[in-house]
Amino acid sequence: MLPQTASIFSNPWNADLFPAGEKMGSIGEKGWVSRIVQTFQVGVWPWFGTSEDAMDDMMPLGRGTLIQRPVEGEPGSSGGPEQVPGPGGAREVPFYHLPVLMNEVLEALEPAPGKLIFDGTLGGGGHTEALLQRGARVVAMDQDDEALRHAGERLKGYADRFCALKGNFRDFPTVLGEAGVTGLDGMLIDIGVSSRHLDAAERGFSFNKDGPLDMRMDTSGPITAADIVNTYEQGALEQILWKYGEEPQARKIVKAILAERAKTPIKTTLQLAELISKVCPKYSKRHPATLTFQALRIETNQELAALEAFLAAAPKWLKPGGRLAVISFHSLEDRVVKHAFHHQSQVWLDRPEWPEPKRNPDCFYRLLSRKPKEATENELSLNPRARSARLRGVERLPA
Ligand SMILES: C[S@@+](CC[C@H](N)C(=O)[O-])C[C@H]1O[C@@H](n2cnc3c(N)ncnc32)[C@H](O)[C@@H]1O
Repeated sequence: MLPQTASIFSNPWNADLFPAGEKMGSIGEKGWVSRIVQTFQVGVWPWFGTSEDAMDDMMPLGRGTLIQRPVEGEPGSSGGPEQVPGPGGAREVPFYHLPVLMNEVLEALEPAPGKLIFDGTLGGGGHTEALLQRGARVVAMDQDDEALRHAGERLKGYADRFCALKGNFRDFPTVLGEAGVTGLDGMLIDIGVSSRHLDAAERGFSFNKDGPLDMRMDTSGPITAADIVNTYEQGALEQILWKYGEEPQARKIVKAILAERAKTPIKTTLQLAELISKVCPKYSKRHPATLTFQALRIETNQELAALEAFLAAAPKWLKPGGRLAVISFHSLEDRVVKHAFHHQSQVWLDRPEWPEPKRNPDCFYRLLSRKPKEATENELSLNPRARSARLRGVERLPA
């Protein structure tokens, strides 16, 4: 089997994606949009009004796919319960994920009453909740059903200003367009997996816990990590480990995978982790399977392609003065964000072969800061997972 398409756009920064004169926030006429429309569904927006009282207890998961809110918490989370402050007083919900760089997100997005903010990675709902607490309206997305259920329960007190929709943030223009949104005051994506993904052995993300080698954030996704490991050709597997894991031992690991799968399919996380440990003995604190697992996760979920598509589409949706914040957790993602923001904030472009500099048609932003924001010592003492988090932010220039 060949790898999934690396990106739906050959050049995500191509201004051609957004035909001149197209209304900011509207859906483009390109073929890729109609492809997505067929597969995506949009839910009911509480603040747009619904005549059906029965929907009070529902959370939109897709057009015609409202799900009943869970009555009690959900099974299977590790960690203790969280105290969640809400309009109805503090409540306990099971631990799901501790949001990172909270102060930095709030500083970047400046949530306030009347503002409409898009959170493309709802997760446990921590960032969204802080935005709601400051009076903003939030429309959120996540591709993981469990995250939507958890956050829907956590944030049910904000139903008049909050809506959660199932989907991949790469498809947000279709989803928001169908819902009638034409402009946003803020956008946030906090990419990667949640603590819940790593804690839940059955999701197959952890090399420390035995589970099916799955790694899909959207469990209806077309391909699992096991499919990749057991069916991709040698060259494609090596490419993935090089490109998405920057794994220096890629060749050695792939050779071991090929030898193993010729005998028996590699079906579980520990089966793969132990195989890698055998050929790459541990030489640092990091588990030898860390980079391979990262690479497989990125390929399974097409994470970089989703990020590129999101970054290319975002400028059309931000109102002038609107802010976009992106939190990434490894250098590969941060590099994509850094390059995109750099390109999208340059007024002039120059090349040695050009007689003179040209105006950049993709200049949409002002950088909020040159360097990314990182966790403070105080945050790190409370949440060591924040160590690799980097936040980059931009502000939309007037059109
Ligand atoms: C790091 S967590 C977000 C945590 C969240 N900010 C909070 O405060 O709890 C990442 C979440 O984004 C979701 N996710 C990752 N990539 C996504 C994508 N391309 N589209 C939609 N959701 C995505 C994951 O399912 C996960 O729930």
